[in-house]
Amino acid sequence: MKIAIGCDHGGIALKPIVKKVLAENDIEIIDMGCCDTKSVDYPDYALRVAEAVSKGEVDKGIILCGTGIGISIAANKVKGVRAAVCHDLFTAQMCAQHNDANILSIGGRVVSEELAGQMVQTWLDTPFEGGRHTGRVAKISEIENKYFK
Ligand code: RB5
Repeated sequence: MKIAIGCDHGGIALKPIVKKVLAENDIEIIDMGCCDTKSVDYPDYALRVAEAVSKGEVDKGIILCGTGIGISIAANKVKGVRAAVCHDLFTAQMCAQHNDANILSIGGRVVSEELAGQMVQTWLDTPFEGGRHTGRVAKISEIENKYFK
């Protein structure tokens, strides 16, 4: 499996633990920046990861900003992306199980390193449940097809 990671200065503190967990799972990591704490614009990094997911260049993505909010809003503008902001193990599990989230978004100013690592592991370990959720996710795609050219 291949996973792209992108962050801004507000999320970069979580990047080492995210990479550690991915490496422990033998996942190939594509680091799309940023690479230091200099102030940058989160939509630039959201776009890199979201496009890689949308084009199928990677299987999933992980994005990090201060809150996880801005970078997920930007990522969700890209067709085929279902980016979920999560802040605990339950949301990390449910975004995979019910929403088939293909990008996990975490706030570096919201959760601890330890929790972020556990959230990544939970998201990786949780399969999409399918069933009634398949039709709901398909309805998300229908909305996307209606409004995104
Ligand atoms: C950057 O200061 C901050 O606004 C950004 O990391 C993120 O939290 C935006 O949603």
